[in-house]
Amino acid sequence: MTAKPYTIGVLTSGGDAPGMNPCIRAIVRTGIARGARVVGISNGYEGLINGEFRELGARDVGGILLRGGTILQTKRSLAFREPRGQREAIRKMNEFGIDGLAIIGGDGSLTGALALHRQEVKVVGIPGSIDNDIWGTNISIGVDTAMNTIMDAVDKLRDTASSHGRAFLVETMGRGSGYLAVMAGIVSGAEIVLIPETTVTIEDIATAVENTYKRGKTHAFIINAEGSGIKTNELAQALEDLDVGFQTRVTILGHIQRGGSPTAYDRLLASRMGVKAVDALLNGISGVMTGLKGRGIDYVPLEEVVATKREVNMEYYEMVSLLAQ
Ligand code: F6P
Repeated sequence: MTAKPYTIGVLTSGGDAPGMNPCIRAIVRTGIARGARVVGISNGYEGLINGEFRELGARDVGGILLRGGTILQTKRSLAFREPRGQREAIRKMNEFGIDGLAIIGGDGSLTGALALHRQEVKVVGIPGSIDNDIWGTNISIGVDTAMNTIMDAVDKLRDTASSHGRAFLVETMGRGSGYLAVMAGIVSGAEIVLIPETTVTIEDIATAVENTYKRGKTHAFIINAEGSGIKTNELAQALEDLDVGFQTRVTILGHIQRGGSPTAYDRLLASRMGVKAVDALLNGISGVMTGLKGRGIDYVPLEEVVATKREVNMEYYEMVSLLAQ
C-alpha cells in the first residue's frame, strides 16, 4: 500500500496583489515536484468554510506567471473571524484531507492563519499586500508592481503638469500606511508626500507648494496616501483658493495600483516565497510566515508578525523634500 501524499491547500485572501499568481504557480509546481498534492481553495477563507476546493496540476498554473490578480479569487471573510467559521473551515479541511495550508495575503489574512495555527492546523503565511505594512519581511509581494504603476502615472502626469504649470495631487492607496506614498514620492520626484503617520495642516502644504513655485519649478507633485486624513479634492480646492502660484488638478489612482502584470521583482519574490512555503509545510514547520531578510527568505513566527506593524522609515519621508529642492 502506498502512503497518501501530503495535501497542501493554497488560498489567497484580502486585497489582491500583483504576484499572487506567480506564488500560486510556485506552490503548485514545487508541491507536485516534491510528491505532494496541491488543492486550490477559491475565495479565500470564505471558500475554505464552503469547501470550494479543486486539485491543481502543473498545467493548471501555466501562463499565470505574468498575470495580475489571483486565479483563486480572493475575499475578505467576516464569517472566518468568528470561532464558528474557523471550526467549519477546519472541518472542511479534514473532510477533504488537506494536511497543511499556504495562505497568501495581508495582515488580516495572516491573523486568520495564526488563529488556525493556534487550533493545531499546519499553516504557512506568505505576505501579499501592496501596502508593505507587514512585519517580518523587507517587502511584500505586490509592492514593487504597485510602486512602478504609481511611478509610471506620475511620469505621465509630469508632462502635462509642466506644460501647463500646474500642481497635481495624486492619491495613492494605503489606508493605514504611508509606505507606498513615500517610496513612490522618492522614485517619481514628488515635492510633498502626505501620509497617515504625520500631521500637516493645509496651510503648511500651501506654503510648501508656493515655495516650489518661487524656486522656479514648472510643476508641483503632492502625493497623498488615502489614509493621510486630508481629503484630496478638498485640498485641491483649498490650494486654488489660497492662490499658491499653480492651478491644481487631481488624479486618484485607486485600484489601478492593485492590477497589472507583476514586475520581475515581484515574480521573483513570489516564486522564492512559494518554494519556501512548500518546504516549510513538508518539513513540518507551521505557524510561520516567509519573510525576505537580507539576501534570503526566512521563517518568521506568525505570533511576531501579527503583534507588530511594519512602520514607514521616516528617513525616507524626509528624503522626499530633500531631493525635491
Ligand atoms: O490593503 C490593500 C489595499 O489596497 C489598501 O491600500 C486599500 O486601502 C484597500 O486595500 C482597498 O480595499 P478594497 O479593495 O476593498 O477597496
